[in-house]
Amino acid sequence: MRHNLAMIGFGGMGHWHYDLIKTIDDLSVTGVYDIDKKQQEDAKNKGLVAYQSMEELLADECVDIVVVATPNDLHKPFSIRALEAGKNVVCEKPAAMSGEEVRDMMEAAKRTGRFLTIHQNRRWDQDYLMVRDLIQTDKLGDIFRIESRVHGSIGIPADQWRQFKEHGGGMVLDWGVHLFDQVVQMFPDQKIKKVYATLTHVTNLMVDDGFTVELTMESGVKVLVEAGTSNFIPLPRWYVCGSNGTAKIDKFAVPGTIVRARGNGKKDVIPVLTAAGPTKTMAPRKEENIIKEDLPLADSDVRDFYRNVMKVIEGKEKSLIKMEEVLRIMTLMEAVFESGNTGKAVCFEDSYDR
Ligand SMILES: NC(=O)c1ccc[n+]([C@@H]2O[C@H](COP(=O)([O-])OP(=O)(O)OC[C@H]3O[C@@H](n4cnc5c(N)ncnc54)[C@H](O)[C@@H]3O)[C@@H](O)[C@H]2O)c1
Repeated sequence: MRHNLAMIGFGGMGHWHYDLIKTIDDLSVTGVYDIDKKQQEDAKNKGLVAYQSMEELLADECVDIVVVATPNDLHKPFSIRALEAGKNVVCEKPAAMSGEEVRDMMEAAKRTGRFLTIHQNRRWDQDYLMVRDLIQTDKLGDIFRIESRVHGSIGIPADQWRQFKEHGGGMVLDWGVHLFDQVVQMFPDQKIKKVYATLTHVTNLMVDDGFTVELTMESGVKVLVEAGTSNFIPLPRWYVCGSNGTAKIDKFAVPGTIVRARGNGKKDVIPVLTAAGPTKTMAPRKEENIIKEDLPLADSDVRDFYRNVMKVIEGKEKSLIKMEEVLRIMTLMEAVFESGNTGKAVCFEDSYDR
C-alpha cells in the first residue's frame, strides 16, 4: 500500500526526511509547508507542492502522514491540528516542551483514532546498538557503569530558535532526548531510581548548552549521560565498565574496542614509576594477561522507522516508538531540569508502573 506524506517545516531536518524517504518503497513526499520563502522555492525546485498554508496542506486528501519538523515549541499545536484533520503524525523529537504537552498530544491521538509517533531515530545509531547488544552478553562480566557522551565545540548553533528557551532550545531537549531514550531502551525492565544533573551555560545563559547527568538504575548500574558544546577534545562516545573488562567506542558509527582479563587471578603488573612515586594500582595489566578485541559495527537501517510507521497505519505492526516511552523520557528530562536547577538528586521512578 502506498503512503503520501507532507511536511510542516522544511529546514535541516525536513530535508533529511525528504532525502531518506526518496529511498523508501511505497512512501512519497507530496509537498511541504514552511513559512520561509527560500524553503518554499526549494520545495518547488524539487517538484514538490509548496503549500501556502497549513490548512491547504491538511486539506490535501491524498496525504495520510504529516511530519512535523519545526522548532520544538510548535510540535504540540501542529501535531494536534494534523491529528484533528484526520492525518497520522510523525513528530520530530523532542515530542514537546513538557510532559503535560505530551499527554495532550496522546489524548488527541486517542480522541481522533490516528497514529502518532516521535522520530527517535537514534535508536538506529550503530554505536548505541553495539553497546546495547554487548551488555546482553557476559563478555565484560557484571556491568557497573556506562558512560554515553556527545561532545562538540561550537556552542549551540546560532539559528532562529535553538538558543531560546521559549522555542525549546538547549541541549537537554536537543540531545538529552536521544541519549536518555537509548539508555532506557538498553534497560527495558528497569526503573530509574535517581537522577543527578548539572547543566552548563558556557556560551548561552538562556538555555543549557551542555549537561552531565548520572542515572542510578534499579539494579544499581550507574549511567553517566553527557552532552557538551565547548569540548575541543571530545571524550569517547561510549565507555562501558564491567567487572571483567572495559569497552570503548570513540565516535559515532565506528568499531569499538574491548579489553578484558585473560584467565583468573592474573593481576600482576609492572609498577609505573612517576616522578613522585610508584603505583601498582594504576599500572596497566601485562599484555599476556589481557585480551584485546574489536567491537564490530552493528547492522542498522534507519529506514525501518518509516517502514514501521506504514505497517502500523496498515494495522500490521505495533509502533516501534510508543508514546508511553516518549512520555517517560519527557518526564525524565523534567527531573533533569529539577536536579540541575536545585543542585539536588531527584528520586525518580519509585512509582513507575511497567
Ligand atoms: N531526529 C533528529 O536527528 C533531529 C536532528 C535535527 C533536528 N531535529 C528536530 O527537527 C526539528 C527541526 O529542526 P531543524 O534542525 O530542521 O531546524 P531548522 O531551523 O533547520 O528548520 C525548521 C524549519 O521550520 C520552519 N518553520 C518555523 N516556524 C514555522 C511555522 N510556523 N510554520 C511552518 N514552518 C515553520 C522554518 O522556516 C525552518 O525551515 C526540531 O524539532 C529538532 O529538534 C531532529
